[in-house]
Amino acid sequence: MAGQKISAPKGVSEYVPGRSRAFEFVRDNLISPAKLAGYQLIELPVFEDTDLFTRGVGESTDVVSKEMYTFEDRGGRSITLRPEGTAGVMRAVIEHGLDRGQLPVKVWYSGQFFRAERPQAGRYRQFYQVGIEAIGLEDPAIDAEVIAIADAGFKALGLSKYRLEITSLGDAQSRAAHRTDLVKFISTLKLDEATAERARINPLRLFDDKREEMRAAMADAPLLLDYLNEVSRTQFEQVQKYLDALGITYVINPRMVRGLDYYTGTTFEFVHELLGAQSGIGGGGRYDGLMEQLGGQSLSGIGFGLGVDRALLAAEAEGVIATSEFVSDLFIIPLGEPAKVQALVIASKLRSHGKTVEIAFGDRALKGAMKGADKAGAKHVIVLGEAELASGTVEFKEMETGHTSSVKIDSLLEVL
Ligand code: HAM
Repeated sequence: MAGQKISAPKGVSEYVPGRSRAFEFVRDNLISPAKLAGYQLIELPVFEDTDLFTRGVGESTDVVSKEMYTFEDRGGRSITLRPEGTAGVMRAVIEHGLDRGQLPVKVWYSGQFFRAERPQAGRYRQFYQVGIEAIGLEDPAIDAEVIAIADAGFKALGLSKYRLEITSLGDAQSRAAHRTDLVKFISTLKLDEATAERARINPLRLFDDKREEMRAAMADAPLLLDYLNEVSRTQFEQVQKYLDALGITYVINPRMVRGLDYYTGTTFEFVHELLGAQSGIGGGGRYDGLMEQLGGQSLSGIGFGLGVDRALLAAEAEGVIATSEFVSDLFIIPLGEPAKVQALVIASKLRSHGKTVEIAFGDRALKGAMKGADKAGAKHVIVLGEAELASGTVEFKEMETGHTSSVKIDSLLEVL
């Protein structure tokens, strides 16, 4: 089948030059506040044992029941491309015994995730997240700090048109009390088989049902927030107190349902105003039972995942992408073979000092090479010919202003 074009699989996000710098800017800035708060990189496989997600994320979720990329590998094992990051982090923390050391374990990650969703603007089958997890500390102050780190990531991009929604799913006792009443309430509703099954595994899911008739049916359902016991309520109030002190604004959304089953206590979502249907740019929360569920000790954790693709769309929608239009500090145009050798030497020396330097190879005519420099986004250009090599001096051109000056080749580093 030589010659036939092959396209990318349906619904994947990919970033090629033109937009890839903006993507890189968003990804790196989103996670920079986590690094400043002492979180360390954790780099994990994109595929895991399928059990990790069915047990960790929960069978009542769309993510597990409908959206997993699951396949049998050559050894007959069931493998799944990671739909999210938290379960894998827990698996690794347990496997490497990180929970036996200094607590909390604080890690950050960045990479591709996979969900076989119906593709649309801002919803992809392969997408990017940056995220953090803080494991082994139950203090409302760290809940607030985790939320503040996510918020700082969005602010680092210059985003402002988003809101933070928070709620609490309480502790096991609070949830049990609520569940009893919620199940009683749900038993009065007429449900189709699939919905009834979802409700049986996790009745909270019904709050997340987007169908108009289900929304109406759930309008009077008992809310978990009204069932928080003393401990859970106090914790939630403390989280709010810390957020207030940090000047972080939020709205309490008692109907928020996260798409993953492991959440307990503080949960939150960041919703962007300009993104339409796929407006969730990040979310997270606390998970009390996850580690135990996965065969580890009983330690609670909290974390978030931020959608890099959606944060980029949001930054574009707000018009705040602040990447420099310049790609390189210097563009060298060598004329002739001896100049080419010198260009290589000069570029390599400047790069070793952290300067971005490109060389126009290919013996192009001067005019074409100048155009190339402009297109490539060079800040400065020098032409290197026989005369320049003989005198050791070049015309140093600033592309933005067109201003030129005479500069010694040996002083290029200083003027850059
Ligand atoms: P999540 O809410 O499922 O949480 O995903 C986090 C973010 O990833 C979403 O807010 C959204 O921006 C982005 N996202 C999710 N699915 C897609 C998609 N199909 N296309 C584009 N972007 C998407 C989690 O994954 C949790 N692991 C977060 C967490 C960490 N909770 C505790 N620790």
